[in-house]
Amino acid sequence: MPDPSDRPEVHLRMLVGDDAEWVVDTDRASATALARHHGWELDKFRTELDEGSWASDDRWAWGVIVDGEPAGFALVTGLASADAEMTVRVHPRFRGRGVGREVLRQLADHHFSDGSELNRLTGRAHEHNVPMQRVFNAAGFRMEARYRDSFEQAGGGYAAEWGYALTRADWEAGRHRVDDQGYDLHGLVFEVDEVREGPPAHGLEVRFLQEMRRAIARYDAYHLIDGELAGILTGDLLRYRFVHTEEHRNDVTAQVLGRGRARLQRRDDGRLELVDQWTDERGNHGRRVFVQRHVPDDEV
Ligand SMILES: CC(C)(COP(=O)(O)OP(=O)(O)OC[C@H]1O[C@@H](n2cnc3c(N)ncnc32)[C@H](O)[C@@H]1OP(=O)(O)O)[C@@H](O)C(=O)NCCC(=O)NCCS
Repeated sequence: MPDPSDRPEVHLRMLVGDDAEWVVDTDRASATALARHHGWELDKFRTELDEGSWASDDRWAWGVIVDGEPAGFALVTGLASADAEMTVRVHPRFRGRGVGREVLRQLADHHFSDGSELNRLTGRAHEHNVPMQRVFNAAGFRMEARYRDSFEQAGGGYAAEWGYALTRADWEAGRHRVDDQGYDLHGLVFEVDEVREGPPAHGLEVRFLQEMRRAIARYDAYHLIDGELAGILTGDLLRYRFVHTEEHRNDVTAQVLGRGRARLQRRDDGRLELVDQWTDERGNHGRRVFVQRHVPDDEV
């Protein structure tokens, strides 16, 4: 978790022909399996920037400048309609310090206040692109669609993308700049660190999705499958219900339902911890501590 006082200074500026080279380099360096590069041809792109075709009524290319250094870019298309679409690329060197979320906030400020008819600023994220999904959440965008087979993968086949939007009404209400949105469990994975009471929980791993205060999670463990949890996060307290299937000997299975309360806090090393207390409808109960597992980027 970055220290807020360490937040870099981010600003957007219009791109000109002289920027073409670093933008093309940044495009290549920031491409991932979940976000392709744009494949610009350098001279053609420089000419387009010089001719102003990326600063028109319908589309705009912004350079992202972090602490005075070129660090990425954002493209906005469809500005002449009510629905514009944005994409963003931050060079790997500058990631994880809040640049992405600040870029989205500034894009919203620029394009909703420029006197245009724009009503919705939209964007998409590959369904496994947790960093971008967290950026959308932090900048007040709402997930509102799942586009099946819309992302052509390098290795063949298609993947789904999630569609997000910030509306003019959201922007007017300042939803893109709410700094104290509380904990965001979205895309985070937790594993058991300590069982304080109750049965052991070998191999238990919980994967969250969160939208506003609603959190859902899937979990599995040794001899426990198809775990689903759904709850509401209020401040640092997650109140939830769960259901899973226990596997016993001789292929016997039992469905278990229950409820729990988990208190969230941050450890000194920046990872989140969940202090969890649960009971099931058979009267079993337990207390355990989960800790956030760092998931490498190629695994998210
Ligand atoms: C997506 C992208 C723009 C984010 O930029 P950024 O400057 O790192 O964004 P931020 O620092 O504001 O936020 C990133 C969030 O993802 C989290 N994150 C990063 N890697 C993660 C991982 N492996 N698992 C879980 N969360 C992760 C960060 O902790 C941060 O969340 P937090 O601030 O709540 O802790 C940048 O990673 C990028 O350019 N990626 C490649 C291109 C891309 O995917 N573009 C999006 C398609 S339009």
